[in-house]
Amino acid sequence: MIPGPSNDRRPRMVPRSVMLVVFLFGLLMLHVVSAQNAGFVKSPMSETKLTGDTFELYCDVIGNPTPEIQWWYAEINRADSFKQLWDGARKRRVSISTAYGNNGVSVLGITRLTLEDSGTYECRASNDPRRNDLRQNPAITWIRAQATISVLQKPKIDSSDHLVLSSESHKPPIILQCNLTSAPNEHRESFWMKNGEEIVGSRGILKNTEYKLKKPRADDSGEYLCVYTFDLAPPANATIEVKAAPDITGHKRSENKNEGQTAMLYCKSVGYPHPTWTWRKVDRDIPVEIDNSTGRFFISNKDNYTELSILNLDINLDPGEYQCNATNIIGNASLSSILRVRSYLAPLWPFLGVLAEIITLVVIIVVYEKRKKTDEEPEDDEPAGPMKTNSTNNHKDKNLRQRNTN
Ligand SMILES: *[C@@H]1O[C@H](CO)[C@@H](O)[C@H](O)[C@H]1NC(C)=O
Ligand SMILES: *[C@@H]1O[C@H](CO)[C@@H](O)[C@H](O)[C@H]1NC(C)=O
Ligand SMILES: *[C@@H]1O[C@H](CO)[C@@H](O)[C@H](O)[C@H]1NC(C)=O
Ligand SMILES: *[C@@H]1O[C@H](CO)[C@@H](O)[C@H](O)[C@H]1NC(C)=O
Ligand SMILES: *[C@@H]1O[C@H](CO)[C@@H](O)[C@H](O)[C@H]1NC(C)=O
Ligand SMILES: *[C@@H]1O[C@H](CO)[C@@H](O)[C@H](O)[C@H]1NC(C)=O
Repeated sequence: MIPGPSNDRRPRMVPRSVMLVVFLFGLLMLHVVSAQNAGFVKSPMSETKLTGDTFELYCDVIGNPTPEIQWWYAEINRADSFKQLWDGARKRRVSISTAYGNNGVSVLGITRLTLEDSGTYECRASNDPRRNDLRQNPAITWIRAQATISVLQKPKIDSSDHLVLSSESHKPPIILQCNLTSAPNEHRESFWMKNGEEIVGSRGILKNTEYKLKKPRADDSGEYLCVYTFDLAPPANATIEVKAAPDITGHKRSENKNEGQTAMLYCKSVGYPHPTWTWRKVDRDIPVEIDNSTGRFFISNKDNYTELSILNLDINLDPGEYQCNATNIIGNASLSSILRVRSYLAPLWPFLGVLAEIITLVVIIVVYEKRKKTDEEPEDDEPAGPMKTNSTNNHKDKNLRQRNTN
């Protein structure tokens, strides 16, 4: 048989509180007993960098009590001459930020690297109470983790100047060029990127590389990068900005909605840099700020796309022409969309139309029938006799009457 839940629950209450005590006690014991030597959770990694770049080394140490962390440096092949690094050293290019919680976590950063920054960087950690006692051998009281940083001369790349695409319709082709003029190591290959993505088919092995815009359009504007890869050295790149005035390439010509519904208008553009978007309402041919006192207008912009939403449409206030405007440092453009708002009844109109037709038809039929009836009435109810010469009588009636009198 299945034990009743009430029987089951009560005996459990006691063990639970006992367990809690045991658990808390265990936690206490853990705290007291497990004073733990420092140990690395994460140690710094060796890297090769280029002059002018930045590097960061991480050191994450566990121990109880939480270990203290220091950073030390020795020039290449001078492992006997370590010197301690501090925050702000080397003309403030060195930064050290350390946080002590359950673990000790420290980040060493060096910016604007020079060839002289090459060397061995060492993270030292200790929670030994004798760690700063000068009579102790630091090799015993501190644990250490090393990384070697090699800084190479940044390759030199001559590249085309930044340029602006004109807005004329027929533009001459544009050639973007990069020439690798010096490099610390043999280069492997080069490729081009546009707006952060590799341009398919642009890989090559020559030191001089070019990318051609055959029929440059606003669409071709953007941030171009030539990238060179090397044996045993990080890749290097040069940037060529191709700027163009915004051109609005997509928008909603019109939006038809019922009052109370939500309208959504959008515009998207090409051109570089990405534009600042604004929306205005055109009032007697003049664009004016949108009156958002009712709080129903929402604009969301994402680089080359903007969206205007109008909630709970008002048939009196909202219909009209709305204009999106894209402006960047090269130029600006705008396009209009028409918003129509119909009344609640609008969706009923086709139905009402049919209804009206039916009613008209019924009325016509009823009237006709009634009329026909009143005309035929004399035939049935009229006592036979020539006395009644009603003006409404027609030939047929007369004939009938004649037949009757016959
Ligand atoms: C690259 O090298 C070619 C050939 O030497 C030269 O014509 C061109 O002007 C150079 N381009 C740049 C951007 O330095
Ligand atoms: C281009 O070079 C810069 C500076 O060295 C670097 O920060 C960036 O990550 C590189 N970009 C690419 C795509 O390689
Ligand atoms: C807009 O920008 C996104 C990325 O920022 C891009 O993927 C998209 O093709 C662009 N659209 C137009 C019309 O340029
Ligand atoms: C309009 O007002 C609402 C409510 O105050 C606000 O959340 C919204 O951002 C405003 N829209 C614009 C375009 O300023
Ligand atoms: C927008 O473009 C017109 C010419 O097309 C220019 O006169 C005006 O200064 C531009 N406005 C801005 C804010 O760039
Ligand atoms: C777009 O907005 C800017 C800044 O408000 C204005 O100078 C420019 O004339 C507008 N452009 C168009 C085409 O309406």
